[in-house]
Amino acid sequence: TTGGTDDQKRRAGERAAEAVDDGDVVGLGTGSTAAYAIRALGRAVDDGLDVVGVPTSFDSRQLAREVGVPLRALDEVERIDVAIDGADQLDSRLDAIKGGGAAHAREKVVDAAAERFVVVADPSKTAETLSRSVPVEVLPDARAAVERDVDALGGEPTLRRAERKDGPVVTDNGNVVLDCDFGAIAEPAALAADLAAVPGVVEHGLFVGLADAVYVGTDDGVEVRTR
Ligand code: A5P
Repeated sequence: TTGGTDDQKRRAGERAAEAVDDGDVVGLGTGSTAAYAIRALGRAVDDGLDVVGVPTSFDSRQLAREVGVPLRALDEVERIDVAIDGADQLDSRLDAIKGGGAAHAREKVVDAAAERFVVVADPSKTAETLSRSVPVEVLPDARAAVERDVDALGGEPTLRRAERKDGPVVTDNGNVVLDCDFGAIAEPAALAADLAAVPGVVEHGLFVGLADAVYVGTDDGVEVRTR
C-alpha cells in the first residue's frame, strides 16, 4: 500500500476491469489497487455485465459483496478466465513479490489457476531486481524450524506482528507470516523453489512466471507490459 498515488492505482485497476468480458469468471485480488478493479466491476455489473468473482481474501470478498459482484468460492468454479491482483514489487520479467496483506497463499492459487493473470500496480512497485522481504506463510508450530531453514538459505526472517493486537498476524488460513529479507534476489525462480521445499511453509510470496501482463497506472495513463 506504500508509494503510489490513489489516482495511479485507480487507473491501473479500472483499465484491468475494462478488459473483463461478459461471462468471465474473475479472480478478485487483494489490496488497495485490486480494490479499484473490484469497484469498477461492481459498476459494470450494475450496467449489465455478467461476471462471477472468486475472492482471494476476506477483504476482497467483503468489498465484492458491497459493490454487488456475484461471488463463488474457489472450489465452486471450474475455471477462472482472468485474475486481477496487486503486487508489492515487480521486476522487468513480470515476476512479483506479494503478501504485504498476508493474502498471498489464496492469491497464488487463484492467480495461477487463471487463464490470464493481470497485475495492477503503480510506478513505486517496479524495480530492476526484486529486493523486498518475501512474505512466507508458515504453520504456527513450524515457525522456529522454518526460521532456521530460511536462515540457512541466506535470509533474515522476522515474524510479522499485528498492529492492533498483542501477537502475530494470523492469516485468513490460521497461519503466521515470516517476512524474509534476502537482499537483492538474483534468481527468483531458484529461491521460490528453495522456499517451497521447506517443510511447514504453506506458501511464499514470490510469484515467478505467473503474470501475463502488468498494468502500471501513471499520472496520465496506464503502461501495459506483457510477457
Ligand atoms: C496482499 O497480500 C498483497 O499480495 C497485495 O496484493 C499487495 O500488498 C498489493 O497491495 P496494494 O495494491 O495495496 O499495494
